[in-house]
Amino acid sequence: MPDTAPEVELHMQVHVLEDFPTQAAQRFVSWCAAKISQQARIHVALTGGGTAKEFYEALARPEVRAGLDVRAIDFYEGDERPVPPSSSESNWGMAEAIFLDPAGVPAENRHRMLGEAEDLHAAAREYEHVLCEHLPRHGEVPAFDLLLLGMGANGHTASLFPETAALAERERLVVANPVPEIGMTRLTITYPMIKAAHAVWIIASGQEKAEAAYRAIELRDPLLPVTHVMPRSPLVWLLDQAAGSKLSHRLLSPLCSVSHGSDVNPTCE
Ligand code: 6PG
Repeated sequence: MPDTAPEVELHMQVHVLEDFPTQAAQRFVSWCAAKISQQARIHVALTGGGTAKEFYEALARPEVRAGLDVRAIDFYEGDERPVPPSSSESNWGMAEAIFLDPAGVPAENRHRMLGEAEDLHAAAREYEHVLCEHLPRHGEVPAFDLLLLGMGANGHTASLFPETAALAERERLVVANPVPEIGMTRLTITYPMIKAAHAVWIIASGQEKAEAAYRAIELRDPLLPVTHVMPRSPLVWLLDQAAGSKLSHRLLSPLCSVSHGSDVNPTCE
C-alpha cells in the first residue's frame, strides 16, 4: 500500500442523504433505467454488510423498484466471506434473501463467488473466468457498469483491508485475501477490477463511518484502502447524515474535484 496520497485528479460526488436507504435506492433505480435505455444489458456488482442490507431493503420495496427491469441486469459481487450462501454471514445470501429473490432476478442473471469452496484461491480464479466471460472489456480488463462498494470503519472496502496482501495486487482481478484482523481469508476483487468499472458508488451509514469518510474524502488519507478507489468517472459517495457528519459543507455540492500532489483544496463546481 503506497504511503502517499494518490497523485491523480479525482472527481467525486459526495451526497449526504436525509433518507439514505430510500434515496440511494431511488438513485440506483433511476441510474439503471437510464443505463438500460442506452444498452440492452447492464452489469452491476453488489457489496455486503449492514449498510448494503439497509440499501437492499429499500430497493426491494415494490414502490421503489417499480421502474427496475431486473431482466436486463446481471448481478455480481465484489467480495465474499468463506461461507456458503446459506450462511448468515454470506454477502450473496443476504443480497438474495433481501433483494434478488423478492425482485425476481432470474437465476441466469446471478453470478456469485463460491465462498464455500475448499480452495479459495481456485474460487478466485474461477470468478475471474466468470467476469471475463460475462463482462464487456475496458482495455484488457472486464468492466462492471456499476460497482457498489461499502466501507468499514477502518477504511476497508470490498475485502481490501488495511495491511493485507491484496492491496498490492496489480495483475489479478480477484484474489483470496488473508485478513488477520478478522481471522479469515476472504474473496475480493482487486484495485485493477475497481479501476476498470464504468461507475463506482461507495455507500456508508452510521456514526462509526464518519471518521473514515472524512479521512478518505477530505484528507485523502493513503492509509485507508478506500482512498485508493479511483474510478474512470466521478466517484459517487452516498452517505447518511451520521456517516457524513464530519465533512465540511463545501464538499457536499453536486461535484467536487480533489487533486493530489498539490496544495489544491477540494473545490466544488
Ligand atoms: C463485507 C463487505 C464489506 C462491507 C463493509 C461495510 O463483506 O462485509 O463487502 O466491504 O461493505 O465492511 O460493512 P457494514 O456496512 O456492515 O459496516
